[in-house]
Amino acid sequence: MRAVDVINKKKLGGRLSKEEIDFMILGYTKGEIPDYQMSAFLMAVYFVGMEAEETAELTDAFVRSGDTVDLSAIHGIKVDKHSTGGVGDKISLVVTPLVASVGVPVAKMSGRGLGHTGGTIDKLESIEGFKIELTADEFIHNVNTYKMALVGQSGDLTPADKKIYALRDVTGTINSIPLIASSIMGKKIASGADAIVLDVKVGSGAFMKSLEEAKVLARTMVDIGKSLNRKTVAVITNMDQPLGHEVGNANEVREAIDVLSGRGAKDETEVALTIASYMAVLGGAFDTLELARKHFEKVIASGDALEQLKVFIKIQGGDPSVVDHPEKLPQASRQIEVKAGIEGYVTGFDAEKVGISAMLLGAGRRTKEDKIDYAAGITLKKKMGDHVNLGDTLCILHSNLENNKEAEKMVKSAFIMGKNAPDPVQYIYEIVE
Ligand code: URA
Repeated sequence: MRAVDVINKKKLGGRLSKEEIDFMILGYTKGEIPDYQMSAFLMAVYFVGMEAEETAELTDAFVRSGDTVDLSAIHGIKVDKHSTGGVGDKISLVVTPLVASVGVPVAKMSGRGLGHTGGTIDKLESIEGFKIELTADEFIHNVNTYKMALVGQSGDLTPADKKIYALRDVTGTINSIPLIASSIMGKKIASGADAIVLDVKVGSGAFMKSLEEAKVLARTMVDIGKSLNRKTVAVITNMDQPLGHEVGNANEVREAIDVLSGRGAKDETEVALTIASYMAVLGGAFDTLELARKHFEKVIASGDALEQLKVFIKIQGGDPSVVDHPEKLPQASRQIEVKAGIEGYVTGFDAEKVGISAMLLGAGRRTKEDKIDYAAGITLKKKMGDHVNLGDTLCILHSNLENNKEAEKMVKSAFIMGKNAPDPVQYIYEIVE
């Protein structure tokens, strides 16, 4: 087989065979196919697309390109969730203890964030002592005993995706639905999940800017999951503004504590309860979503959800007293209030700019080597639909830096103002099963 023939076939609209896909993906991983041919192949996929089965075969090739995690020693249906990425997204921190509390094993493998703010791991590491390096035995023991554990991605999972993602990043081929879907699902499947709930974000702070695109991505990922025998559901959620009020790391942990104590922001609480309910149903704990949701509302109201969060922090080596004393979490030396220069309603956000502003304060990494300042971040005091008077505080920057002018200017420009109140925000658009 020759790479150029596979490239030509895709370029002319052909459906690739499993053998041709394996030849390209596994060959590239081993260094047998050069970057220039893989780049041409990716561009052909970008323009021509892939059929559903072809995309599933591409995902399977990603999975087989490296190690897979064997979770067979864990009893029950292992459920995982994945977000396509948003600003202020702390849903994993909320749903992990909730879902574990109903006996569904949550064996979570998470990544660090690059760009914007930290990933789930960075947020949790803002808790003193919290460690994400567990041995395979500790991981399995914790999931079997406490129904939850979280580790950083280790080993050689989907090396094809790592190599191809880096190439996509510099060849203008990130934004292709079959490539995004196979990249995400490949990682989830290689990390051993039996059931997957996808949080597909759409809006100014997400990869997918339109609902139509988000629906296609969600359908593609759900179909991949089904083809590869994983129960998969996608929840399409709003990312036209950051989720909740906090964007950063330690402040996002504080907000997750608020959600689990019943004092959480409406959008955050709604998305978390919906995702936790789907995870619980896929994991076999409840027959219906309504039953799952009612149960979780009770668990939150009774204080059991907070107790479960303490257990989660404790078994990962962290200090559980932060749950009752969130003031123990890292705090920045400077709090800068950003004031409104005009009166009106917040009608929208450039959510990505809020993320970038938080990164400028130190809450995210520009390069893999950057160290995160866990105390840095942004608290939004106004969100979509809120009325703003001249001089009102739009948000507060938490920073340990002396000069915060660039972040201040950027975050201010992220607020889109209008004379009239916008339509009420819809938190969840659609479920794709
Ligand atoms: N996230 C991934 O893991 N892969 C993509 O291609 C896009 C988002």
